[in-house]
Amino acid sequence: MTWGGEAAGFVIQLFRGIRIVLASAIIERKRDSEELTADEIRFMIEGLVDGTVPDYQLSAWAMAVLCRGMTSAETAVLTDVMLSSGNVLERVSDRPRVDKHSTGGLGDKVSLVLAPLLACFDVDVPMLSGRGLGITGGTLDKLEAYPGYRSDLNQQEINQQLKKIGCVITGTTPDIAPADRRLYALRDVTGTVPSIPLITASIMSKKLAARLDALVLDVKCGSGAFMCSMQEAQGLASSLTSTGMRTRLQTRALISNMHQPLGVMVGNACEANEAVEVLCGAGPADVRELTIRLGSELLMAVGICPSLDAAQQLLAAAVDDGRGLARFQLMVESQGGRFVERLPVARSVAVLSTQTGWVNAIDGQRLGRSIIELGGGRRQQGDAINHKVGVAALVKLGDHVEAGEPLAHLLTDYADAESIRCQLAEAFVIEAERDEPQPLVLLSV
Ligand code: URA
Repeated sequence: MTWGGEAAGFVIQLFRGIRIVLASAIIERKRDSEELTADEIRFMIEGLVDGTVPDYQLSAWAMAVLCRGMTSAETAVLTDVMLSSGNVLERVSDRPRVDKHSTGGLGDKVSLVLAPLLACFDVDVPMLSGRGLGITGGTLDKLEAYPGYRSDLNQQEINQQLKKIGCVITGTTPDIAPADRRLYALRDVTGTVPSIPLITASIMSKKLAARLDALVLDVKCGSGAFMCSMQEAQGLASSLTSTGMRTRLQTRALISNMHQPLGVMVGNACEANEAVEVLCGAGPADVRELTIRLGSELLMAVGICPSLDAAQQLLAAAVDDGRGLARFQLMVESQGGRFVERLPVARSVAVLSTQTGWVNAIDGQRLGRSIIELGGGRRQQGDAINHKVGVAALVKLGDHVEAGEPLAHLLTDYADAESIRCQLAEAFVIEAERDEPQPLVLLSV
């Protein structure tokens, strides 16, 4: 090696060493609960993207953030840095742009109903969604139950579809907030996902990249959700709304009840079928109510309606006269899917109650694990899923059941699903006295 080559190698090593020392100092400051500067946060995230800060230091930093938290100013900077690690979507029309984001829950098929419904009101809805991981399902998995449905549209295809029909539900393109993808992969394997500032920056960087005028967040609270307690859900809702409002994005959040599945069906094809039922003016009342409630926040925020009541009436009319369904079919077909009113599902096996009494609790974790065991959810990223399987949760909190009556149906391809049937039966807590169930929308933030 020449002298010049050795000198260059030495300088590179020195540069790397200095960065590692700097990253250590930043991790220690966060560990000691100090507020980080914008430059320090930028240093960590840019280092993650360009590889100059190693993964083990980023993991330690994420753990320090999980334990010590972040101020709202730090969270805003982190969101901004993640956003600027990639591109933003182009605005393709003068129409207002709106979106809804859910933190994920069992049976949550609201996006399938809401995106096409909103598009009936001259707004653009660029919904960049995700896949299911763990117990909560993903919107893309539900839509991919339509054979041929493409959830990998590029920016040009997203723009074309928005111009044509006003709504699109697809995966986040690789050039949107790439820092979030890298950081999430590290959080996923280091137990640092459940940090409110990290969740906030992750969600909001992707939503800000969609260049929206208004965003409504459905923060789920209960045993079938990420946030099990009201306190955690409120913390996340206010962190998300204040981060949105700082950037002048009109952001509202509803905290909704996930102490039981939304609707009846939990799975993929069966949830798409239930979404279509709702768009036909039928289906479970809770899915319709929550969809219309979330949608009305958006129509009001962008000035299409003067009040929530007026917006709710407009949205209900677009469900009842079939406009929402027609737009949904257009969206599925425009993304390559073969639309049918009823997708095939697996054979049904009844799960019977062994007791008589009142349904006072439904353990969402148990129910969600049953879906994974049936093959309808993922244990790890990249797992294949069976779209046809799922669970029909037939009883709701506060219902009375007799011993021998069905609590649920398993939709399964397995010849022997006995152990899953037992696990699912245990998810339903039946007691002699009735507890009053909580409302569907717990709080508006
Ligand atoms: N969803 C996201 O997009 N990011 C998180 O960190 C958690 C949920």
